Order: sequence, then structure tokens, then C-alpha cells
Amino acid sequence: MSRTAIVTGGTRGIGAAIAVALKQAGCNVAANYAGNDEAAERFNAETGIPVYRWSVADYDACVDGLGKVEANLGPIDILVNNAGITRDAPFHKMTREQWQEVMDTNLNGVFNMTHPLWQGMRERKFGRVVNISSINGQKGQFAQANYSAAKAGDLGFTKSLAQEGARAGITVNAICPGYIATDMVMAVPEKIREQIIAQIPVGRLGEAAEIARCVVFLASDDAGFITGSTLTANGGQFVV
Ligand code: CAA
Repeated sequence: MSRTAIVTGGTRGIGAAIAVALKQAGCNVAANYAGNDEAAERFNAETGIPVYRWSVADYDACVDGLGKVEANLGPIDILVNNAGITRDAPFHKMTREQWQEVMDTNLNGVFNMTHPLWQGMRERKFGRVVNISSINGQKGQFAQANYSAAKAGDLGFTKSLAQEGARAGITVNAICPGYIATDMVMAVPEKIREQIIAQIPVGRLGEAAEIARCVVFLASDDAGFITGSTLTANGGQFVV
């Protein structure tokens, strides 16, 4: 598919796998990242995918950054809202900052990236928005009141926007990954990670490439009848 795509948080973890898979599928891809220059440079050297640094938590930075990407690559057809952070803490210890940072990136970031692109997608009568939510937005998770609330919010956003985009040829879908072998999950204390793996019927963590293949499908021209859906990819850990 010769479409132009941007992946937020696209230089590491699930996002990097998505960017590479979209490129392999024939897209012209840009990867956004927020802070880790070293990882971004390595990713760019290995894949040839151009990288752009800005925070999705900052609306004006999104407008500026997307303007640069579109000036270089042309109008964006596919937006993958993948960027996400954790600030895990039991609620009695959670600070306002931990709540706010997660909301700003994981929920407001999805608005900040989608809003500036929406009008162009409407005018061109084509768009694919894929939001990477989480199993923990579906089931909740101890020490993740902030993260689970934001990820559940992403699902509501997806369902509403799908209804608005449908007549304009824009599909909006969400993917809820379970526990995937990325830096984010590896940061969970080992003992707790082992307990989590024990709850996954397939008996292992997921691979980033397994989520990337879901994105390629939802972003394809062939997936035009699928909108407002939530694709659950969690090894059977939570069945919805
Ligand atoms: N259910 C019930 N109780 C739990 C629990 C759980 N899942 N996890 C921990 N607890 C209990 C502990 O047993 C402990 O109890 P006691 O005080 O009686 O011993 C208490 O909660 C934890 O208290 P601490 O003071 O030790 O907590 P802490 O301030 O050190 O925080 C933590 C520890 C941050 C909660 C840590 O346990 C942790 O990181 N947990 C993992 C949370 C998690 O799964 N995050 C997902 C990250 S990956 C991701 O988000 C990607 C994705 O989309 C899937």
C-alpha cells in the first residue's frame, strides 16, 4: 500500500515494530519520539525510517511536527497513536504529577495528534487511525488507576470518532495489547512479571511484531469496513 503513515513512540518497542511493518507493507513511514535521541538515531540507522522528535503531550508541538512531516512526506493517511508511558503506583501513593503525566501522554496525546490531521483526512476522503490502548484499559490493573483510565479513555475516543469519520472514508480502531516483551513490561519487577506470565494462557509474553501485524491489517485499504472496533491481542489473558 503506498500510503503515508506516522507512528508515535515509533522508535522503540511496539511502535518501532509497527513502523517497520508498515514500511515493509509499502508505506512511506515517519516515526515520532519524545526524548531518547540515542535509540531514535539507532532506529533510523537500522531502518532508514525518518525520525521526528516532539512530545505528543504538547498540542502546539504536534501541529508543528506534523507540519514538518507532511512537508517532507506528503499528506498523512495513517496515524498510529502508540506513544505511551507508565507511572505505576498504588492509588494511596499516586501523586497528581503521576496522574497528570499519564493523562497528558496516553489520552491527551491521542487528541493532540488526531485533531490536527482530522480535517485533511476528511477532505481527502481517506484516513486510518489506529489507537494502541491496552488490556489494562479493559480490565484495570493494580497500581495503574492513571494508566487504565487513560487507556479506557482511548477506547471511548475510538468509538466516537469512528462514527464521525465513517462517511468520510476514515476508520478509527483500537488495539488492546496484553503484556508484550518491551522495555515497559521489563520494568515491572521480575517477581510480578512472572505472576503476570502465569496468567497468560499461551504461556508467554507477546512479541511487538504480533501487534504490528494487527496494525498493518487495520491500516490497510482492505479494512475499510472495520471501524470503531477493539482488537484484543493478549494471549487469552482477558477475554472480552
Ligand atoms: N493485586 C493485589 N495486591 C497487589 C498487587 C496486585 N496485582 N500487586 C501488588 N500488590 C500488593 C503487594 O503485595 C503489596 O502488599 P503488602 O503491602 O501487603 O505487602 C502492595 O500491594 C504493594 O505495596 P508496595 O508499597 O510494595 O508498593 P509500591 O509502592 O512499591 O509499588 C508497584 C509497587 C509499583 C505496584 C509494583 O508492584 C508494580 O510495578 N506492579 C506492576 C503493575 C503493572 O502490572 N503494571 C503494568 C506495566 S506494563 C504496561 O502497563 C503495559 C500494558 O499495557 C500491559
